[in-house]
Amino acid sequence: MEGVKKNRIFIKTYGCQMNFHDSGLIEDGLLKNGFDKAGSLNDADIVILNTCSVRDHADHKIVSEIGRLKGDKKIVLTGCFAKQIKLKRENGVSVNNADIPVDYCFAPDEILSIPEILAGNFEKNYNGDINDKGFKEEFKATAKDDYQNFNLIEEYFYNKKVDSGFATIKIIEGCNNFCSYCIVPFVRGKERSIPFEIIYNSAKRYADKGVRELLLLGQNVNSYLSPEDDKKDFSYMLESLTKINGIKKIKFLTSHPKDFNDKLIELIASNDKISKNIHLPVQAGSDRVLSAMNRGYIRRDYLNLIEKLRKKCPDAAFSTDIIVGFPTETKEDFNMTLSLIDEAGFDFLFGFKYSPRPFTKAFEFKDDVSLEEKKERLGMVFEKQKKVFSSILNSLRGKRLNVTILAVGKGKNPAEFKNGILFKGEGLNDRTVYIVNKDKYKNLRIGDKGIADITYIENNRLYGEVI
Ligand code: 5AD
Ligand code: SF4
Repeated sequence: MEGVKKNRIFIKTYGCQMNFHDSGLIEDGLLKNGFDKAGSLNDADIVILNTCSVRDHADHKIVSEIGRLKGDKKIVLTGCFAKQIKLKRENGVSVNNADIPVDYCFAPDEILSIPEILAGNFEKNYNGDINDKGFKEEFKATAKDDYQNFNLIEEYFYNKKVDSGFATIKIIEGCNNFCSYCIVPFVRGKERSIPFEIIYNSAKRYADKGVRELLLLGQNVNSYLSPEDDKKDFSYMLESLTKINGIKKIKFLTSHPKDFNDKLIELIASNDKISKNIHLPVQAGSDRVLSAMNRGYIRRDYLNLIEKLRKKCPDAAFSTDIIVGFPTETKEDFNMTLSLIDEAGFDFLFGFKYSPRPFTKAFEFKDDVSLEEKKERLGMVFEKQKKVFSSILNSLRGKRLNVTILAVGKGKNPAEFKNGILFKGEGLNDRTVYIVNKDKYKNLRIGDKGIADITYIENNRLYGEVI
C-alpha cells in the first residue's frame, strides 16, 4: 500500500441504541480482520456511517454528512438509511446517486458481512478505479440475513471487552407491527429472536467480566420468543437473567403496550433486579389516531396498563414516545394527547413531528398538518410534560430511597456538579438524584449504595441527602 496505512476505520453512529449495538459488532469484526481504529473521522481511511432513517430529518443529516466526506476516504453506508436506499433501488424508485456517492452499501441485516467483504475487496477497491461511486452490483450478492448467523453473534459477546459495569444485549431484531407511520419493519425486516442460550451465556460471560447492569434491546422486546423453545418468552428470559450471579439490574427497551402481559407485570413487580423505569411508547392520545396508526390498542387500554403497573410498582417511572401531526390529526385529537400526558404521568417523553416515510402505509396519506402546526403542537407537548414531571418530582419530596452513586465530583459533565453538588446517584426506580456536597459524603465512590432522603426539588431535579 505504498507505505501508507490505508486501513484505519472510523464508525459514526446515528439513531437508536440498536445502531450503537450494531456498530460494536461491526467494529469488532473489522479489528479482527486487520483494520485499525482511527483516532478521529479526519484520520480515517474508511468511514462507516451506521445510519438511521426513522424520520426525514435523519436522512438529511446523513446526506449532508456524505457531502462533507467526499474526497479520498472510502465511505461505507449501513443501517436503516442504507436499507432505505437499497429498497428504493430494488423498487425502481429513483435515488439521486450524485447525492449519495458511497463505496459500499450494507443493509442492517448484512452488517456481519462487512468486515469480510471490506477485507477481501479493500485493496482492489482502494487502488482501483473508484470513479463510479455508485452502488456496486457485486455487493448485492451479500443479501442474506446475518442475524441468523448466531455463531458470529455469540463470538462477539464472547470476545467483547468490558470497560464498565454496564452492557447491552440485543435479544430481538426487526418488527412485525407495521405501525402505519414507521419504516422500521421495512428496513430492519421481520422479527427474529436470538436464541435464549446465546443471550443467557452472553449475559453470564458479561457478569463474569464485571458487568452488573444489562440493557436488553429490541424494537419490541415483549414479543421475544426463543426460536428453539416457545416456552422461553420475554418473561422467562428476564427472570433467568436475574438469577445470574453478579447481575444487579436489568433494563429493557422498547416495550409495546399491546404485548405487555400480566405475567410480565407480575414478574417486574416481584423482582428487585428488574428496573421499574419503563419506556412505553404511546404515540397519541386519540383512539381515532391510534387506530389510523395501527397501534393495536386504544387510549383506555394504555392508561389501564399504566394503572396496573403503578398499582403493583408504586413510584414506577414511565417514559414514552409521542408523535404530533399525524395525517388528519385534529386539534381535538391532539388535545387528547395532551390530556393523556397528564393522566399517565410520565417522567420523560420523546416528542416528534410526524414525517412521512417511504414504503409505509401513512406515506399514502396526505401530510395535512402544516409544519407550523406540528411545531406548535410539539411545543405544547414539551410544555405539558415539564409541568407533569415537576409535579411528579414534588410528590417524591420526603421519600427515603436506596441510591447508587453513578458519578462523583466534577466528572464527565461538570454542569451537573456546579454549586457544590457532588454526587449523581440513581434511585427510586432509576431516577437521577443529586446528593448535596457535604463533608460527611466525601468518601463516597461510584457504585456505592446508600439510603437517601429527598430533601428538595429545584430546576426539575431531585436533591437528596445520604443518611
Ligand atoms: N414520524 C415521526 N416520528 C416517528 N417515529 C417513528 N416513525 C416516525 C415518523 N414517521 C417515532 C415513534 C417511535 C420513535 C422511535 O420514533 O415515536 O416510537
Ligand atoms: Fe415501528 Fe411500531 Fe415496530 Fe415500533 S412497534 S418499530 S413504531 S412498527
